[in-house]
Amino acid sequence: MLFHYVHFTSLVLATGLTLTLALPRRGRHQTQTDPFAIPDPQEWENTDHMTWDDYVRPPGSNWYNSARRGTQRNFNVALIAVDYPDEAFVITLAANSTVFTNPQPAANSVPRADVPSFYRDLLKKPQEQNLNHTLHEYWMEDSGEGGFNENACPTGQSCSVDLRTDALGAWRAAVGNATANSFELVFILSAGQDESSTWQEFCKMLFDGPDAVADAFGPPANSTLTNWADTRYVNWTSWASAATIWPNAGRSSSTQAESSGMGTYAHELSHLLGIGDNYNNPYSIPPIRSYTAPFSMMSRGSFDGPGGPHTRWQIPALLGG
Ligand SMILES: *[C@@H]1O[C@H](CO)[C@@H](O)[C@H](O)[C@H]1NC(C)=O
Ligand SMILES: *[C@@H]1O[C@H](CO)[C@@H](O)[C@H](O)[C@H]1NC(C)=O
Ligand SMILES: *[C@@H]1O[C@H](CO)[C@@H](O)[C@H](O)[C@H]1NC(C)=O
Ligand SMILES: *[C@@H]1O[C@H](CO)[C@@H](O)[C@H](O)[C@H]1NC(C)=O
Ligand SMILES: *[C@@H]1O[C@H](CO)[C@@H](O)[C@H](O)[C@H]1NC(C)=O
Repeated sequence: MLFHYVHFTSLVLATGLTLTLALPRRGRHQTQTDPFAIPDPQEWENTDHMTWDDYVRPPGSNWYNSARRGTQRNFNVALIAVDYPDEAFVITLAANSTVFTNPQPAANSVPRADVPSFYRDLLKKPQEQNLNHTLHEYWMEDSGEGGFNENACPTGQSCSVDLRTDALGAWRAAVGNATANSFELVFILSAGQDESSTWQEFCKMLFDGPDAVADAFGPPANSTLTNWADTRYVNWTSWASAATIWPNAGRSSSTQAESSGMGTYAHELSHLLGIGDNYNNPYSIPPIRSYTAPFSMMSRGSFDGPGGPHTRWQIPALLGG
């Protein structure tokens, strides 16, 4: 475990926000001459094809500025970075050195001691690396299960780690209860990938079927386990993806991994405030429509951003939510 922890952020909850929307007037003029004119032509672009150049800030806002204070409530959140004897932080490694082809050239070979401040700054501090976008900004703009693979522990290994209990316990022991109690919420940042960012990309999108998963994505060499494993929402993914954490929130803390983008932190922060998920499963058979999908942070919106949802596997997380 890396005991450095960083005073993370004060998230601002503002009320009384008013937005003035200029609605297109096209339809009104057209209907006078053409009764068959489409009154509300669809204009949309798949986020897979969008870039940061398409981003438009809400009029008059500067929510990326983390010095802003809230009118109603400020959150004092700790960020605890956790690694393991057999899993280093991906950004401490050479570029393109993991099976997931991470870390990206944008950040690699970062000294371990700098990992907590790297992720704090990536989320909180407007800088070139995050194109001046912050978690505070993302959350402000958008706030308006278990039991899988139970017998899938490779022979000779221990799979009993409880990230939340162990990380919070180690942190309390390291900083003392007085300091730990001064935070109302805690973000736990795990070394490695987050399963929700690789479960499709390094599964159906890479391999023809469960039996085609390459050994590199399978369990350790002398395991009798298959190279695929159970996952959420779809019925298989690669073993390597399933072996990573799926971010979640509860008991005043949320878990994220190195590929978790601001959308994931914002989604989990909303859970910490008692707000539930708002998605169906569009991948089920038959598919169930996800009504608010890319428009809600508590639905697939937390998977979305420039580059689209299938760029979320990259470390550091600069695209796709
Ligand atoms: C990453 O490494 C793999 C081989 O390990 C190579 O096939 C691939 O082209 C590399 N990708 C980049 C972006 O360098
Ligand atoms: C980030 O902000 C700085 C300071 O305002 C500015 O110089 C820089 O061009 C910005 N970078 C991006 C990518 O917006
Ligand atoms: C610190 O807090 C933990 C959890 O609340 C508790 O179990 C432990 O006894 C406390 N330690 C001290 C020294 O008060
Ligand atoms: C493979 O099996 C041997 C003998 O049981 C064991 O010592 C070793 O740790 C196993 N390797 C892995 C990667 O699990
Ligand atoms: C996943 O579901 C499909 C469709 O029901 C089925 O054909 C397939 O065998 C399942 N695959 C696994 C690995 O369970």
